[in-house]
Amino acid sequence: MDRDSNHPMMDKVEVEAILDLLQNRIQGRAKALEFGCGGSTVTFSQYAANWISIEHDDYWAKRMRSALPSSSPVEILVSPPDFPHSGMTPAKEGQFKSYIASAKKICPEDGFDFVLVDGRARIDCILELHRSRLLGDGSIVVLHDFRRNRYISRLGEILEAYDLTSALTSGNLRGLGVFEYRGLGKANSSGSPASSSRRHNPQLST
Ligand SMILES: C[S@@+](CC[C@H](N)C(=O)[O-])C[C@H]1O[C@@H](n2cnc3c(N)ncnc32)[C@H](O)[C@@H]1O
Repeated sequence: MDRDSNHPMMDKVEVEAILDLLQNRIQGRAKALEFGCGGSTVTFSQYAANWISIEHDDYWAKRMRSALPSSSPVEILVSPPDFPHSGMTPAKEGQFKSYIASAKKICPEDGFDFVLVDGRARIDCILELHRSRLLGDGSIVVLHDFRRNRYISRLGEILEAYDLTSALTSGNLRGLGVFEYRGLGKANSSGSPASSSRRHNPQLST
């Protein structure tokens, strides 16, 4: 990859959707976590109360730290793969166990309000947020590249603890899934995903 490190690796409409969530739904108060740092860290961290990124690549973390203003309170935590991996190939079983688990070590007492999932082993990161109780009820989790088959095929696992509140998926977009955490209430319910408890209208475009 050789893109401008100051801009999120996302389409403009996806950037705008995330900014809208941070500014209007969470209103700048978010204790935010990101898996996979980049221009997104530079752009979005300004709209959160706290921002921590978990990154697997030490070189990239250093580069992003230097792209942030020296006064920035953003923290980038490096957690390398547990066994070697090549490039951006899909994560293998167990390869990012430490990376996934590192969220628990830095979790604020009352959980994260907002999590952007745009790094490695994305679905396992989302499931870990629930399993280790790292979110509050109503916290927002955004999955970038939502349209990938390997993510869509695991949507059912996510919906056991989250509601899908919107999905940007039209045209050439790689897709953005916005999930709202429903916590134990949803996890313990025996019924199907709690569409009746959705607080927001889904804007599914495909
Ligand atoms: C999809 S990218 C994450 C991008 C970030 N969330 C953003 O939107 O700017 C996933 C991983 O690719 C690597 N990466 C991101 N941007 C890169 C770049 N411009 N050049 C090389 N590696 C990059 C980092 O290791 C990052 O965790």
